[in-house]
Amino acid sequence: MSKVGDFPFGVQDAAAYTAWHARKLEQAPRSAAELIVEVRDPRALSQTEHDELLARVRRCNMAIYASSLHDANNAIPRELGRQFGLEHLDANWLADEDGISEIQVNNGEPRQSFIPYTNRPIKWHTDGYYNPPERTIRGMVLHCVRSAQQGGENRLLDHELAYLLLRDENPEHVRALMQPDAMTIPERVDETDGVRPEQPGPVFSMDPAAGSLHMRYTARTRSIVWKADAATRAAVAALEKLLAADSPYVLHARLEPGMGLLCNNVLHDRAAFTDDPAAPRLLYRARYQDRIKGS
Ligand SMILES: [Fe+2]
Repeated sequence: MSKVGDFPFGVQDAAAYTAWHARKLEQAPRSAAELIVEVRDPRALSQTEHDELLARVRRCNMAIYASSLHDANNAIPRELGRQFGLEHLDANWLADEDGISEIQVNNGEPRQSFIPYTNRPIKWHTDGYYNPPERTIRGMVLHCVRSAQQGGENRLLDHELAYLLLRDENPEHVRALMQPDAMTIPERVDETDGVRPEQPGPVFSMDPAAGSLHMRYTARTRSIVWKADAATRAAVAALEKLLAADSPYVLHARLEPGMGLLCNNVLHDRAAFTDDPAAPRLLYRARYQDRIKGS
């Protein structure tokens, strides 16, 4: 299978883009089941398991491993990630000491004010969209220890496909979203660094470190300011429409105990959920500055 990760970004390279476009659509999974690889132990994958997961990441920037390891042990996502070159965890004062966050409903301070630590839905986003460029989140592992009694599914969309579909609709949309001031996070208190000045940046950019397309996005309307020009407004509306329309490229996944998502920070959301009080939903989230090696 040819690799689709080498992103021919330049509009001047029309032939390369056309070839990439065709491969990308041809290889795009149409259901989350295509992402799943059964593994014996995520901490120590066999060569075949590793190859199978990486092949999926190369197709669509994500894969899901499924194991029967149900322990509440954050070494599982950490050691899984390491096998794909994911080493540099993003520091986060809400994360435990080793940089991996426990995502669960928490009624105590300070977590209760952050949506991930509630049972409410989370809108479409990429992780760390509010991070400064030096803390760009390129890779992520989301490992499920316990699933919700009901709900808590994720919708997933390869951000390269989001780019492709938007550019098909109108190349001006991606041009607008590549402007360095397309999306601004207002001055705020950052989870890691305290008071942060306002943070303008593009939605789509070529990541010079990884040589790949990066996306920074949130569908939230609070704490986010879009550039006030007609082209940006039209592009944001088109992207919202694309995500709301539930295109065949949007995958629906529910992580069950022992399963995890390995991805190059693709677009995702989370449905609301109801917990079993005796066994509340628990996911480990590891965010990395690295992109998955070989993808
Ligand atoms: Fe997220």
